[in-house]
Amino acid sequence: MLKDEFPKSNEERNVTRRRFVGVSLGSGAAILAGKSDLIFGADTSKAPKLSMNTAFTLGGDLTVHRLGFGAMRVTGEGIWGWPPDRENALRVLRRVVDLGVNLIDTADAYGPDTSELLIAQALHPYPKGLVIATKGGLTRPAAGQWVPNGRPEHLKKAVEGSLKRLRLDRIDVYQLHTVDSKVPLEESLGALKEMKDAGKIRHVGLSNVDRQEIARARKIVPIVSVQNRYNIQDRDSEDVLVYCENEHLGFLPWFPIGGGRGLKTGHPLNVAAKTHGVSVVQVALAWLLERSSVMLPIPGTSSLTHLEENVAAAKLKLTAEEWKAIAGLAA
Ligand SMILES: NC(=O)c1ccc[n+]([C@@H]2O[C@H](COP(=O)([O-])OP(=O)(O)OC[C@H]3O[C@@H](n4cnc5c(N)ncnc54)[C@H](OP(=O)(O)O)[C@@H]3O)[C@@H](O)[C@H]2O)c1
Repeated sequence: MLKDEFPKSNEERNVTRRRFVGVSLGSGAAILAGKSDLIFGADTSKAPKLSMNTAFTLGGDLTVHRLGFGAMRVTGEGIWGWPPDRENALRVLRRVVDLGVNLIDTADAYGPDTSELLIAQALHPYPKGLVIATKGGLTRPAAGQWVPNGRPEHLKKAVEGSLKRLRLDRIDVYQLHTVDSKVPLEESLGALKEMKDAGKIRHVGLSNVDRQEIARARKIVPIVSVQNRYNIQDRDSEDVLVYCENEHLGFLPWFPIGGGRGLKTGHPLNVAAKTHGVSVVQVALAWLLERSSVMLPIPGTSSLTHLEENVAAAKLKLTAEEWKAIAGLAA
């Protein structure tokens, strides 16, 4: 199992019991309705849309809003199989695009396959400018298992599978999901370079890598993005983020709002949330967006209300004092 994917094997089973200390997020949007123009009540058509001033250009030619969407959570429990309410998953995916989000992260491992299939069912033919970033190189032999496979023949088959499920001729961003310790990184990236040269991939990204691995990968094929675990309370990948800033690579933080366990909220987070009349999750996302211009958070949700709350966070501006106080939480 990949260490970083799910720190505890039963984590996903506890998703529904997740607690965010200090704030009841289930009722957050309703409680906060009317307190801020960021928040909206039951009439979801009033949800603010993203504007292009929060944009980042991946690989020199794919301009996306920096707040994306992680499509791991539209699958079944434990990121396995179909979601209990497939229509809801399709509605969430369609709303993602309606709200102006144009970066969707997924992987063949989510379901497996079901996340990509749902994206195609909900959104194909895709609207112009929508960037789907998928991943391969992590397999799901059974529920609860995440097993790396970076062998070239597997990766080439994985790309073909994603093309088919997503109904695409070319994948805009294809990320190596993780480094397989049994396969030299150069061999895995060599396979992706072949697929890029064949026109099946536009850009290559990496996930769950350190700086040395990024540098090695870039000797094989140009890399446009890196996806590592990162949020206000987990900044183990700070050095990778700084590398991405220096090299102008997109940085997609996974677990941007703490994953299935949520964030342990602390005083400055709660204070900022109260001041702005928003939720702690929104403060956490606004903090990430302000942390770096290469930051492309991809919060995941199976809930329309949460989706709209998350997208609205792109418009929240923290003061320098608030930002600094929250930054101190990691220490
Ligand atoms: N590269 C990798 O190894 C890797 C690993 C993990 C994830 N990822 C990618 O990163 C994306 C983000 O990670 P993630 O989805 O695991 O974690 P996350 O975005 O930090 O958190 C998602 C969790 O938070 C809940 N949530 C979302 N919005 C909320 C809100 N406004 N209020 C309260 N709860 C909220 C979701 O539950 P509800 O469904 O109830 O909203 C879900 O349980 C994934 O979707 C996937 O695309 C990549």
